[in-house]
Amino acid sequence: MNASPLAKREKGSFFMVQILFARPEDEEELRDIFWNYGMDMSGDITEHLVVKNGVELLAGGKLSELEEKKFYLEVIGVKEGYNGCGYGSLLLNKMVQNPWECCKKPISQNRGKYVITTIARGRAVNFYQRHGFKPCDFEQIPLEYRYQCSDCPEKEDCGPVPMILIGG
Ligand SMILES: CC(C)(COP(=O)(O)OP(=O)(O)OC[C@H]1O[C@@H](n2cnc3c(N)ncnc32)[C@H](O)[C@@H]1OP(=O)(O)O)[C@@H](O)C(=O)NCCC(=O)NCCS
Repeated sequence: MNASPLAKREKGSFFMVQILFARPEDEEELRDIFWNYGMDMSGDITEHLVVKNGVELLAGGKLSELEEKKFYLEVIGVKEGYNGCGYGSLLLNKMVQNPWECCKKPISQNRGKYVITTIARGRAVNFYQRHGFKPCDFEQIPLEYRYQCSDCPEKEDCGPVPMILIGG
């Protein structure tokens, strides 16, 4: 993972941010971000990719390669108060450009066509579409995640949409 700083423009100023794999000590901060949206971390903290500005953890997400060249975005979230500032885009863009690099335990070679799927909250569908995802059928979501919303009491308000991106 290339953790070299990126210049991020916000409200007329530039901030240096880094995208890197989380460390064990990031767990509480990242969990707080996700819990705020009724989400949780997905497994080991160190398999999550995070955006940091040197002081705070601003966003995080986890991408897994479940089968060769078939990636699944398990979770992504931005710290409350920073929504709409572009940090989610920074993170998702990195994942879409090179999913192997953003996946802690890749299982295939870094080349060729690949697929990334996810289940988007209705409110975030535009966000994913701007990064090249398209709505798809639930059948295209890996079996272990396909029914994750089925029993969720917030399903109606959330309006989950299965989404797919074909890259490479
Ligand atoms: C969705 C999310 C990751 C986007 O990251 P971000 O840094 O806020 O987004 P960016 O500034 O890069 O892009 C703005 C887009 O984010 C989305 N967005 C902004 N605020 C949001 C919020 N509070 N909740 C959900 N989506 C939001 C919008 O789709 C917006 O695009 P639009 O203006 O075209 O509709 C982030 O807002 C978030 O964590 N939302 C809550 C948790 C969530 O919905 N996670 C995704 C689960 S599928």
